Amino acid sequence: PDQESREPDGDPDPEGREPDDEPAPPTRPDRGWIGAPVPRVEGPLKVRGEATFAAEVALDGMVYAALAFSTTAKGRITTLDTAEAEAAPGVVLVMTHRNAPRMRPMPQFDTSEKAAGYDTLPIMQDDRVHWNGQPIAVVLAGTQEQADHAASLVRATYEAEPATTSFARAKAAGTEAGWFRGPLHLEIGDAEAELAAAAVSVDATYRTPPQNHDAIEPHAATVVWHGDDLVVHDASQSVAHTAWSLAHVLGVDEERVRVTSPFVGGGFGGKLLWQHQVLGAAAARLADRPVRIALSREGVFRVVGGRAPTEQRVAIGADRDGRFTALVHTGTQATTRHNAMPEPFTAPARSHYAVGSVKLDLRVAYLDVVANSTMRAPGGAVGSYALECAVDELAFALGVDPIELRLRNEPDRDPVDGRPFSSRHLVEAWRAGAERFGWDGRDPTPGAVREGEWWVGTGCATASHPYVRMPGGAVRITLTDRGRALVEVAAHEMGMGTATAQTQVVAELLALPPDRVSFAYGDSRMPGLVMAAGSQQTASIGAAVIAARRVLVAELLELVGDGSPLAGLAAEEVGALDRGLAKLDDPSRHESYAAVLARAGRAEVVVEASGPPPLEAATWSMHSFGAMFCEARVNAVTGEARVSRFLGSMDCGRVLNPRTAAAQVRGGIVMGLGAALVERTDVDERTGRVVNAGFAEHHVPVHLDVPEIDVIWTDVPDPRAPLGARGIGEVGVTGTAAAVANAVFHATGKRVRDLPLTPDRLL
Ligand code: MOS
Repeated sequence: PDQESREPDGDPDPEGREPDDEPAPPTRPDRGWIGAPVPRVEGPLKVRGEATFAAEVALDGMVYAALAFSTTAKGRITTLDTAEAEAAPGVVLVMTHRNAPRMRPMPQFDTSEKAAGYDTLPIMQDDRVHWNGQPIAVVLAGTQEQADHAASLVRATYEAEPATTSFARAKAAGTEAGWFRGPLHLEIGDAEAELAAAAVSVDATYRTPPQNHDAIEPHAATVVWHGDDLVVHDASQSVAHTAWSLAHVLGVDEERVRVTSPFVGGGFGGKLLWQHQVLGAAAARLADRPVRIALSREGVFRVVGGRAPTEQRVAIGADRDGRFTALVHTGTQATTRHNAMPEPFTAPARSHYAVGSVKLDLRVAYLDVVANSTMRAPGGAVGSYALECAVDELAFALGVDPIELRLRNEPDRDPVDGRPFSSRHLVEAWRAGAERFGWDGRDPTPGAVREGEWWVGTGCATASHPYVRMPGGAVRITLTDRGRALVEVAAHEMGMGTATAQTQVVAELLALPPDRVSFAYGDSRMPGLVMAAGSQQTASIGAAVIAARRVLVAELLELVGDGSPLAGLAAEEVGALDRGLAKLDDPSRHESYAAVLARAGRAEVVVEASGPPPLEAATWSMHSFGAMFCEARVNAVTGEARVSRFLGSMDCGRVLNPRTAAAQVRGGIVMGLGAALVERTDVDERTGRVVNAGFAEHHVPVHLDVPEIDVIWTDVPDPRAPLGARGIGEVGVTGTAAAVANAVFHATGKRVRDLPLTPDRLL
């Protein structure tokens, strides 16, 4: 079905039915809806197969796109033969740089509040090749199979130019200072001198490989032009940004581009704007047909960049009691000249420990590959690996329990700039986690436990992710005379539970049952510039909902008539109660929303509001934290490492929905298990070609690789975060790989510092 007019949760009251007889989700009388483990609201649609994803939108006259990719890393296309492809069955169009419409490069992420692109290259505008796998032709045909076949018939030859396709050679060619909203270099005191003078120290180099975005749903867009108006049904974590960026690239007015994305099969920083949406839109215009451009799994590896490789040095100096005197975290990441997405791995070192002297430095080396991008906890995921392994190495050198060592170095304010913490209960998280996991009494001796062929060990690590709230959060609330609320915001449900948690938030703030609240999202026409990134969507929407509720209450009080129990009350005097408003200190003065609207002769009240400027993180040091615990088993014969138990003891502020929140953290931990044990994008260093561009050879954890993952919470509301909730989307991936590697060390006595911990490295 064409879902252009579709709201993900349906019309608030499609047939005037009152669903009073539908079973309500469980409630928690002590705290209302916020904090209740409500099942996800879109779950039934998904399990019934009724949730329409981007590559499932079917439009009249639609044709299917396939891409042909360059096979050289850098140079010029000398011949590009499309005749055979054009003559293939079902082919409607072959688009190359020779016939593509003129387009501007993508506005790069972080250059504008509205930009959603990663590379700044011309998009099929000339004969230049910038990476191995760059799209060189788009084929449109009547079926996907016809398009795929025809794309395989596109023949190109190249005049290759020298390309840098190995990280080692890129580093040797020279590095530059890294930058992410400021320099990534920081020195406090003389850390190298303190390190040299330290009673005990560790100093080691850790390496992490390139990692790719492997969302279960490959990137896809279904694109249609209506005259000069463009509609893109996308798989997106940034509908408004993508609409604005596409308009910029295509040279059309911003308001003529609409991007919808009601369902997303996972997005971890990769589902922003890449060349495929642009090429789909351009080809649709040229062919005057709707186009579905669904990347193959290989296509995702070729067109969508992932996490850059890193080489990191972490050195820690400590006194005999284990108090840190020096912390050095330096190193190099790869990136490309055509983007500048950092992998700021020094971030965890800025917040984890109290330490007298600090030296942080990140350098970048340039490769001729696809632009790297944000990938769940950019920097933190791999930076916490190096830092938290080094802390474990120091604990071993000192003969101190690794949790005890962390507690001894717990800071009482931001270690770098001295700002007070908004809320930090990491010590409680460690204590609760240690008890739950059964840490006490652990024999610290590596290799002390063996069960048959398996060495068994336990390890731990600190997780952290900075709190972010981007500007632009806005919502519209429509309150009807039937006592229902429709909330609209250009936000995203990528599986993380946003729609459910925000339904609960609105239910509680307006004192409505959740089945009277509809949360509509995933459409750039809706209010707000809300990116589902930086683990900030909840805070962004939450701040706007709080503001909109204030406006709504004021409007309702304007509407109440003389006969109302609310007559004469000011906004500060009333609160939401039982489907309406009531005087705070006299709940008997209550009137339902339906009655207020009926009395005023209004069918609905519509308000729209934005959150206040996001200044909280400038004043306060704000992070989500976690204490990660892992039990790992390593086979003494094969070197195979398996994780048998995992616990995340999380400190992320108030938990809005423990069910969906735990699923978020579990997903992050699963991603961390993948990074620890199996994931690595293999690039042929001679050619820059990704050689394991598919799940046959690029491994991610499957069900049998993932044990039961236990998640517990401090659940302490953060007084500086809207709704008291800090982010939970990314923190789960941080600390996880270190906890695994530390458990593997404890199991075997082998300290492997290069990820992933494959059998060849453990034998
Ligand atoms: Mo995330 S890497 O900010 O989607």
